[in-house]
Amino acid sequence: MKSNRILYIILFVLFIVAVLITLFYANKIVSLSLVPEPDVEHPTQKRLHFVLIAHEKDNPYWESVREGAYAAADKYGVHVEYLGPVRANVQDHIQLVDMSIAAQVDGILTQGLTEEGFTPVINKAIDKNIPVILIDTDAPNSNRHAYIGTNNYEAGYLAGLKMIELLGGKGKVGVITGSFQAENMNLRTEGFKKALELAPEIELVAIESSEISQVEAEEKTLKMLKENPDINGIFGNSALDGIGIVKALNRLDRSEDVKVVAFDTLPETLSLLTAGEIDAIITQEPYEMGYRGVEKLLEVNLGVELSGMTITTRSSVITHEDMLQRADKNYDNKK
Ligand code: BGC
Repeated sequence: MKSNRILYIILFVLFIVAVLITLFYANKIVSLSLVPEPDVEHPTQKRLHFVLIAHEKDNPYWESVREGAYAAADKYGVHVEYLGPVRANVQDHIQLVDMSIAAQVDGILTQGLTEEGFTPVINKAIDKNIPVILIDTDAPNSNRHAYIGTNNYEAGYLAGLKMIELLGGKGKVGVITGSFQAENMNLRTEGFKKALELAPEIELVAIESSEISQVEAEEKTLKMLKENPDINGIFGNSALDGIGIVKALNRLDRSEDVKVVAFDTLPETLSLLTAGEIDAIITQEPYEMGYRGVEKLLEVNLGVELSGMTITTRSSVITHEDMLQRADKNYDNKK
């Protein structure tokens, strides 16, 4: 009798354990079915990730390009990552493009500084379906989707015409170029020389490179004037050259007798134009290049066919008189 009771108790305990186990797993099954299934029909929209690779990261000209690109990124809800070599360097620049390809970004905005160096890496990106828009400097033989920027040859030509006018058609001139390796600067120098052909009494006597550094522009101007003291006009063809040229002229006390044509509307260059230390500036639209560059990358991502189009941004000459008279000072056409 006693052993029967023990058996009943054991059976009862086993029954309770079985009920508890069943309830525990049933609860698990119910909770699992409450986790929503991923919606394969409507995946969460991925934010597009573009990179903007500058000629030189902290250069104030490229900061304007970045400003424009960020404004467009805000407007369209895309992400723009800003990269660039610390000091201008073609190999480092190409490597950044290569790394962006490896990271499978949704679009690359950069320059085509040297046709031979940049074309293979641009084409590599295109082959991997990564859109590429070139700004500031074109590589027209690459497969880039579009070029947005200055007509650099024309801009150099404008500088040449202005120099002829400033010198009254007579004199000796020098050029401080940003780089002998950069296609945009070479085109500017070519355009400048072409215009000088209209003035047979003006001779181009020296060309030096600043490596797009203001300090180097100053040093090269000192060297140029030491070797050619009769120079009476200097054209600085990249953004920081004009400032460096003026510093050198002040050191030599020659700012009165040497005319200066500079490039780009950096605040300091504009102040020197107002002060009459720079005689003319050739303007560009870096903000616009950044802004429209992002728009075009977005269009390519949405399937728009750009067919290698060229969008030429505005370039004009402004003078000391314009600074005093023109009410609208938005020379680089910021939105
Ligand atoms: C050029 C840029 C360059 C910058 C350097 C500008 O005039 O368009 O290519 O990086 O000068 O300061």
